Amino acid sequence: MQNSNANILCVDFCLPNVLLFAYQIYWNIYCRELTVMIINRLIVKNWRNFQHIDVPLRERQFIVGPNASGKSNLLDIFRFLRDIAKAEGGGLQKAIGDRGGVSKIRCLSARQDPEVSIEIHIADTPDAPATWRYSLGFRQADREHCQTLLSHERVWREGERLLDRPDADDNADPDRLIQTALEQNAANAKFREIGRFLRNVTYLHLVPQLIRFGDAIQGKVIEDDPFGQAFLERVAGVHPSTRRARLKRIEHTLKIAVPQFEKLEFIRDKIGRPHLRARYSHWHPTEEGHCEDQFSDGVLRLIGLLWSLLENDSIVLLEEPELSLNIGIVSQLAPSISRLQRSRRSQVLVSTQSDVLLIEPGIDGREVLLLIPSKEGTVVKPSSDFDDVCVLLKNGFTVGEVVLPQTHPKHIGGLVLPE
Ligand SMILES: Nc1ncnc2c1ncn2[C@@H]1O[C@H](COP(=O)(O)OP(=O)(O)O)[C@@H](O)[C@H]1O
Ligand SMILES: [Mg+2]
Repeated sequence: MQNSNANILCVDFCLPNVLLFAYQIYWNIYCRELTVMIINRLIVKNWRNFQHIDVPLRERQFIVGPNASGKSNLLDIFRFLRDIAKAEGGGLQKAIGDRGGVSKIRCLSARQDPEVSIEIHIADTPDAPATWRYSLGFRQADREHCQTLLSHERVWREGERLLDRPDADDNADPDRLIQTALEQNAANAKFREIGRFLRNVTYLHLVPQLIRFGDAIQGKVIEDDPFGQAFLERVAGVHPSTRRARLKRIEHTLKIAVPQFEKLEFIRDKIGRPHLRARYSHWHPTEEGHCEDQFSDGVLRLIGLLWSLLENDSIVLLEEPELSLNIGIVSQLAPSISRLQRSRRSQVLVSTQSDVLLIEPGIDGREVLLLIPSKEGTVVKPSSDFDDVCVLLKNGFTVGEVVLPQTHPKHIGGLVLPE
């Protein structure tokens, strides 16, 4: 009797835990998958060197174009939206001020229209109808006031319009137009999900020299640390078990990519500063390893790249990841991103000039946006919009072979330094 009571008690006590555990597994497998969002359409007017963009976006999107065609400017649109939505120190005025004002942002080849606008469609998959649409337009107030004024801000959820500014309140008090509803908790209750999503946009263009010579430079770390100056603090800041798991996966990749690479670990020095330490198999067994200041550029960049891919469930922006990497590694980046997306389902936008990066036969023409400079600003089109590209891809050519040559400058054969 005693025993069976104890059993019942035990079941009573454990059931909530078991249910909670089962729910967590269910949530991780199903709900997490379902709640992942991506931006599947981008519509832009007068942003930097683009007069007009209207393109669909896939989960893995490559952005290719010649030098100064606007690859970084295109990625900056997503950072700009993140900067507006940021929980601390965000907002429209700051995001524009950090970029030098509307006069720097607005397309110089735009004619009369003073407005800059951005619209994003957010959905569960690239081909699904938009769950959310967010549209923002702004312009400089006037010459005397440096402030930027919203010309519109609109939000739709599943086709239903939730916000349409300027509204009656804005008309009664035009000062309200210096802030977006997106940045204000009191005003964005019905669409807070959009802000949460945008806040997680990650951009890391790790500059190895900033890590290697960090102590000597002692520079101010730029907000959000886009160049990885505080990368080691970022690694130190995550929970130890998460950090161990991520570094194990990175170590696994480095062992394949870097000859004789054996071990990657996180350590703290005598005064508590974080470091990464690596060991190579051909070293003497008593040799402990060396720290990040002695890593090669390629190893540092690969660590930064893999870390940002593992860190994020929203949008990861990778700027020319091929820099300093061996071409064998570069050729594996596209399939690695796909593999990672199967378990993490983030959206990865990659700017590149490397045909090797696009050599994978599995890359779909829709996954490549081609930036084509013209007199009216740069035109952006998915490479699948070009019939000749589609024919060649169907005949077994890869995107790297077909698309990249189109971005080469016309007279590149005559490229010589003047005497
Ligand atoms: N407001 C603007 N209007 C027109 N062009 C601009 C504006 N701001 C920047 N640019 C142009 O954008 C180009 C740089 O784009 P960028 O994104 O750095 O190119 P990429 O990354 O493809 O090399 C430069 O040629 C610069 O003149
Ligand atoms: Mg660039």
